[in-house]
Amino acid sequence: MTKRVFIKTYGCQMNVYDSARMVELVAPLGYAPSDSPRGADLVILNTCHIREKAAEKVFSELGGIRHLKRAKERRGERMIVAVAGCVAQAEGEEIRRRASFVDLVFGPQTYHRLPEMIARATRAAGDGVLDTSFPAEPKFDHLPAARAAGEVSAPLTIQEGCDKFCTFCVVPYTRGAEFSRPAAQVIAEAERLAEGGARELTLLGQNVNAYHGAAPANGPDGGGEWGLGDLLRALARIPGLDRLRYTTSHPRDVDDGLVAAHRDVPELMPFLHLPVQSGSDRVLAAMNRRHTADDYRRTVGRLRRARPDLALSSDFIVGYPGESDLDFRATLDLVVEMGFAQAYSFKYSPRPGTPAAAEKQLAEPVKAARLAELQALLQQQQGAFNAAAVGTVMPVLFEKPGRHEGQLVGRSPYLQPVHADAAAAHIGDILPVHIVGVRGNSLTGAIDDGRGREAAR
Ligand code: SAH
Ligand code: SF4
Ligand code: F3S
Repeated sequence: MTKRVFIKTYGCQMNVYDSARMVELVAPLGYAPSDSPRGADLVILNTCHIREKAAEKVFSELGGIRHLKRAKERRGERMIVAVAGCVAQAEGEEIRRRASFVDLVFGPQTYHRLPEMIARATRAAGDGVLDTSFPAEPKFDHLPAARAAGEVSAPLTIQEGCDKFCTFCVVPYTRGAEFSRPAAQVIAEAERLAEGGARELTLLGQNVNAYHGAAPANGPDGGGEWGLGDLLRALARIPGLDRLRYTTSHPRDVDDGLVAAHRDVPELMPFLHLPVQSGSDRVLAAMNRRHTADDYRRTVGRLRRARPDLALSSDFIVGYPGESDLDFRATLDLVVEMGFAQAYSFKYSPRPGTPAAAEKQLAEPVKAARLAELQALLQQQQGAFNAAAVGTVMPVLFEKPGRHEGQLVGRSPYLQPVHADAAAAHIGDILPVHIVGVRGNSLTGAIDDGRGREAAR
């Protein structure tokens, strides 16, 4: 009888990638994916620890899972419950204590051992397995080569971990030291994804542009290293791959090779997520970001000279310990000056074990007021960016069915969701779409059939 695995993913795109790999890892054990924890034989929560709320959500979700597990046990059946990801890494012991019914707890660097952990849990009822080690051998060498995914737009992890230690951030503790996969391994995975129908790849890493992987041994740079720019050029040559993106990058690591790739590689989409966090040099220094607001301006200038149609996205933290009203104004000024097509903004959330958590914290209402003001400005910029698309024709990569019958949703080069009437057969196609309207943060349009404006409804 087929068993069922339910996996719930929190946090960043690297977790999305990891979850897909976990599903592949358990498939040979007879687990088919399920979209509900109800009745599942294996439930995995792939967790995120980046902000307070993210971790809290896991514990509340576990409450519900416990009931399902007990109900299953009353029917004489077994449910294996696993907590994976960054909360598991950071709070493994705590999870075992607060939720003793959890069978497996493992971090982002050990999930390749999942089949073995399931076997152990199945044999030893009750004891549980905790694996939050950082193995010397990277997990990528142990993951199955095949990726069945078949997605139009696929994530591909090329780099993991972080050595930057921004004072607010848990990532260096949960994901461990920076590591780049060898270029040949990345290219082989990209080729398989392209063969499986991927038209777009998003290269992932906590610090993706710090990438410095071993160059392919059989190439001219054999024995040396490649930066992200070199890797992007190689991936752009793979037949079928028409769009490349990468995330998340650090302003410090935008080197000349990467800027040149933005100039020379048409497959590299003109949209970049480049988190700045704050516009105040005082706050940036306290955060240990190791760049100033002017460094950021200069970096964006270099990128925009290389690719004039480049649109930007960013991350912001407001209410960092010691942030004054003046510091916050500097952030608003930088936003006005740069112009962002889209952005994420957060109230500073003290994370246990990080340096900034020990500092004197700002009052909650101050944080809330600043966040509201920043978000209003960012929303206004996003609205203006989207409105400017109306009346243009954009190439859209169609990814999946839309909300309504006969409709598909795709993405513009700037990652805007675009809804248009199109046959399901167009999933995976890049078609010109005449943009006619904005709905929320999405665009609506009509496939441009060559008849121009009249064809748009
Ligand atoms: N590697 C990326 C960020 C990864 S975390 C970078 O260097 O920019 C994603 C975002 O979460 C961060 O950019 C930051 O804006 C936010 N974040 C991280 N830790 C946070 C904290 N303690 N409180 C609030 N926001 C945080
Ligand atoms: Fe966290 Fe990014 Fe800073 Fe690394 S560079 S510590 S991932 S915010
Ligand atoms: Fe969250 Fe871990 Fe990603 S903390 S943002 S899931 S690296």
